[in-house]
Amino acid sequence: MKIPNDPFLGTHYIGKEEIKAAKKVLKSKSLFRYHGPNLLFKTDEFEKNMAEYLGVKYVLACSNGAAAIKLCCIANNIGPGDEVIMSPFTFIASASSVLSCGAVPKFVDIDETMNISPKAIESNITERTKAILAIHMQGQICDMKQILKIAKKYNLIVIEDTAQALGAEVDGKKAGTFGNCGAFSLQAGKTITCGEGGFLATNDKKIYLKAKMYHDNGGYRVGCDYPTWENGKTIFGENFKLTEIQSAIANEQLKKIDKILLKQENVYNYIVNNINTNFYNIRKNIKGSKNVHTNLSFEFQSAEECNKFINFMNNKGIGFNLYCSNLINKYDTFVKKQSWHNSNYPYNISNYVDNKCLKAEDLFRRVAWFNLSGSLKRKHIKYIVNILKEYENEF
Ligand SMILES: Cc1ncc(COP(=O)(O)O)c(C=O)c1O
Repeated sequence: MKIPNDPFLGTHYIGKEEIKAAKKVLKSKSLFRYHGPNLLFKTDEFEKNMAEYLGVKYVLACSNGAAAIKLCCIANNIGPGDEVIMSPFTFIASASSVLSCGAVPKFVDIDETMNISPKAIESNITERTKAILAIHMQGQICDMKQILKIAKKYNLIVIEDTAQALGAEVDGKKAGTFGNCGAFSLQAGKTITCGEGGFLATNDKKIYLKAKMYHDNGGYRVGCDYPTWENGKTIFGENFKLTEIQSAIANEQLKKIDKILLKQENVYNYIVNNINTNFYNIRKNIKGSKNVHTNLSFEFQSAEECNKFINFMNNKGIGFNLYCSNLINKYDTFVKKQSWHNSNYPYNISNYVDNKCLKAEDLFRRVAWFNLSGSLKRKHIKYIVNILKEYENEF
């Protein structure tokens, strides 16, 4: 049997509601959030609903998750010469968004949760450190209690890359709402989606207003009026605005989020409760956390054992694999300090160092991953459990 192995959580739930909402916007001929003959204010509505869901004061919708991270950096005055501490176990956008502000990532190790290690953060702080980017990888929340403690001690900004973890929480508080601000993605592989898209969440009005200005070409806009760049307050910026169609879709998706999270949880729990977790070493998590079960991952004693497991599963039609081809700090972008500009900006003004992240390198090769999504039917889940048992009995 070939088991669906797709990472498209929210995409799976695109249905008549999203189609109807998108059509309504098209019929209104008002596709831009600030202007149109019959503006439906879908982006405003999404921001309001998402702020309520997360329990924060402000949400700013934007074009994608990478833009949301950049906006978090810009709004917190992170720029040339600054270092942002992060784990290399992530998607490259976490780091390239920081580079695009003129700052550089400082890659530090992970711990057994496979998220950033608070100990590694503390031992890598330098006079250039401005912020910690806590990346909640693969639906699982970082140790925010320890991270906030360190940030307070060293007066650092905390940004949460919550692209992969919308809906995760600790003791009822949502991922992305612990630090100064959180960046989220609405890309096709995320908890909810409108294809591409993202948003920033914060309780800090200053952060929200600066990000809002930057995402709107640096202009100062009141309501839907045309912005001004002549009031002495404006900055330069870029266009990171979300469209009304995307917002209408995202709104419908948000209504389904509890259903999506529950389905993921049920699938995960069924599998984990029916296999021998003394044999299958599942990912450790933070006490009191409720994570988004985007995947199943098992840690093996060695890379060889991990590969043996992957081959066995692949031969049975279950696409377990390593997370991706390499940790991002091993990409040429960082190893060879490659920039879009021949001055090599911003590496030329920083002391970027290729930090060793030994635990991340080791775990990366010993953990096998499989995507869990809404496309998994009961027969698929039962089959996965049976094959996992078969592997355990055989080896
Ligand atoms: C951890 C992480 N950060 C940031 C991003 C960037 O989000 P987007 O693709 O919406 O720009 C992603 C997207 O996959 C991601 O996985």
